[in-house]
Amino acid sequence: MYVCHCYAVTRRQVSDAVRGGAFTVEALAAARAAGSGCSRCQPSLEALLACAAPNCRACGPAPSLLSCDHRPHPAPA
Ligand code: FES
Repeated sequence: MYVCHCYAVTRRQVSDAVRGGAFTVEALAAARAAGSGCSRCQPSLEALLACAAPNCRACGPAPSLLSCDHRPHPAPA
């Protein structure tokens, strides 16, 4: 399923980019172009990034955005 329809970026591709160190919407845009078109997907990208280290203490240092179900996300340290 696409998270970013403008650039056909899937949730798995976002997860892979996060594992590569893309912890911001800007970094995801640089890595996969996600969010750099119409911007409508940016809230979804931000929600996924909330699962990513260092944003989610519950996910730890190797986040899996495909399995993170931490709602609400623990506050960053
Ligand atoms: S849907 Fe992601 S930039 Fe348009």
